[in-house]
Amino acid sequence: MSLIKIANLSEIQEQKILSKFTNYGMIAITKLNGNVIVFQDECTHDGAPFDDAQLDVSQNQVICPRHGARFCLQTGEAKKPPAYVPIQIYKVIIKNDEVFIEVES
Ligand code: FES
Repeated sequence: MSLIKIANLSEIQEQKILSKFTNYGMIAITKLNGNVIVFQDECTHDGAPFDDAQLDVSQNQVICPRHGARFCLQTGEAKKPPAYVPIQIYKVIIKNDEVFIEVES
């Protein structure tokens, strides 16, 4: 495993989704109730990006803007069709103002 830096903490706003290109593909970053969450920025149904997605804060879910599938932001599990395959949720490490994710090297 190795760490890659994806953002500075100051770039990430509560309940907003920030998309970033990495060597590991597009990733989405948000902050819910103060917790930074990083997830695959590609719906497993038909590949829509999540940068325009809505967040359901009470359910801790992201809602795909294309066909409305929902994914749990804790586990990645698909919670509502038409998606059935989970999205990837990354382990987040914060050091000072820098946000890293753990990836397989
Ligand atoms: S592309 Fe996300 S639900 Fe269809």
